[in-house]
Amino acid sequence: MNTDDVVRTFLDFYRERGHELITGSSLLPPPSDPVLFTTSGMHPLTPYLQGRPHPQGRRLVNVQRCLRTTDLDEIGDLTHLTVFDMLGSWSLGDYGHPQSLRWGYELLRDGFGIPREKVYVTVFGGDEQVGPDLESLDTWRELGVPVESTRDENWWSNGPVGPCGPDSEIFYWTGDGPPEGRPTTDSRWVEIWNHVHMRLERGEDGGLDPLRQVNVDTGMGLERLVSVLQWRRSVFETDVFEPWTRVLSTLWELDERSLRIVCDHLRSSVVVIGEGVWPSNTGRGYVVRRLIRRVLTILWRGDESRSLGDLPGELVGSGSVRGVLLEEEGRFGRLLERGRGVLSRPEFRGVLGDEEYRYLHDTYGLPRELVVGLLR
Ligand code: SER
Repeated sequence: MNTDDVVRTFLDFYRERGHELITGSSLLPPPSDPVLFTTSGMHPLTPYLQGRPHPQGRRLVNVQRCLRTTDLDEIGDLTHLTVFDMLGSWSLGDYGHPQSLRWGYELLRDGFGIPREKVYVTVFGGDEQVGPDLESLDTWRELGVPVESTRDENWWSNGPVGPCGPDSEIFYWTGDGPPEGRPTTDSRWVEIWNHVHMRLERGEDGGLDPLRQVNVDTGMGLERLVSVLQWRRSVFETDVFEPWTRVLSTLWELDERSLRIVCDHLRSSVVVIGEGVWPSNTGRGYVVRRLIRRVLTILWRGDESRSLGDLPGELVGSGSVRGVLLEEEGRFGRLLERGRGVLSRPEFRGVLGDEEYRYLHDTYGLPRELVVGLLR
C-alpha cells in the first residue's frame, strides 16, 4: 500500500460507517487561538467537542496536517516528525468508546492486514481524580488483544485547560524477532493510534468537569502507519520521504541521524514557509528560523560551502520558498561570522557567565545557543 491507498482505505472505512469527510483545517489556527500551529486533528474541532453542533453531523473523519514542536528533540529517531498528517475520526456525542476501539481494531486487522500478534494496547489505569478505564480493558480482552494499564501515559489533553480524557493507545511491534515485553518496557512497540475518550474538561483551577457530551477522538500519524505497512524501519524510508532522502543523501554526505533531521526540518520549513510564515525572532517565524538554522548547523559542521541553494526544484519548488531559505541562510552565515569575530577577543576566553551571554545577545544579537556552538 502506498500512502494514497492508506488514506483512501482509512477514509472509506469510516465513510461506510456513517462518518462525513471534513476538510482539514489550516496548519495556522486563527489569531484568537493561543496555539501557534495546529497540533492534532481534534484541535480545530474543540468547540464541537464542547457541544456546539457540527454542520456535518456527529460522525466525522479527516486527514489533518499537524505541526508539533514538543517532539523537536526526538526528531532524528525512527518515528517522530515535526510536520505530519494525522488520520482522525470522531464521535461527537454519538457512539461510545468501545465501538471506536472495535472499529479501530477491525480496520487495522482487515483493512490494513496487521496480524493480531503484532498488536499490544494500553489503557488508563486510573489516578486520584479519575477511575480506571475498565470499559476499554474489557473491550480489548473480548477482542483477544494483550493490554497493559498505565497512569500518566494514557491521559490526553491538548493543553493545560480544555477537553481531555483517558485514552487507549494501540502499539505495533517493529522488532525483527517475535514480540517481546510490553509497550512500557520495550520501545520496539511503537504507538500508531490513539483513541481518546474525550468526556471531561479541565478548568483553570485544575478541576475536571464532565463535557456536555461524551465524545471519541482518534488520531493516527499517517507517515508512521505507512512505515509499518510498508515494512520500513523508519518513517524516512517510506514513499512520502523517498524524494527527500534520495536527493539529500546524494547532495550531502551525512550520517543517518543527521540526514533524518535535515530531511524532517527542511520538509517542515518548506511546508510552513509555503503557508506564508517567514523566519523571524518570535512566534511561528521563530519555529521556522530554528528549523532552518539547525539544518545549516548540521550541514556546515561537515563542510561550510554547503548551501540550501543546492536544493533542486523537485523539493522546494521554484518560487518564493527558495528565496526565503536563501535569505535566512545568508543572515545566519553573517551572524556566525560576526560571532566568531567577537568571540576571538581576549575578554571572551575561558568560561562565560550569564552576564557575558546577555551582553553578547543584547549588543551583538548572538543567541546563547549559537555562542555555545561556536565555542565548541
Ligand atoms: N487527540 C489525540 C492525539 O492527538 C487523538 O486524536 O493523539
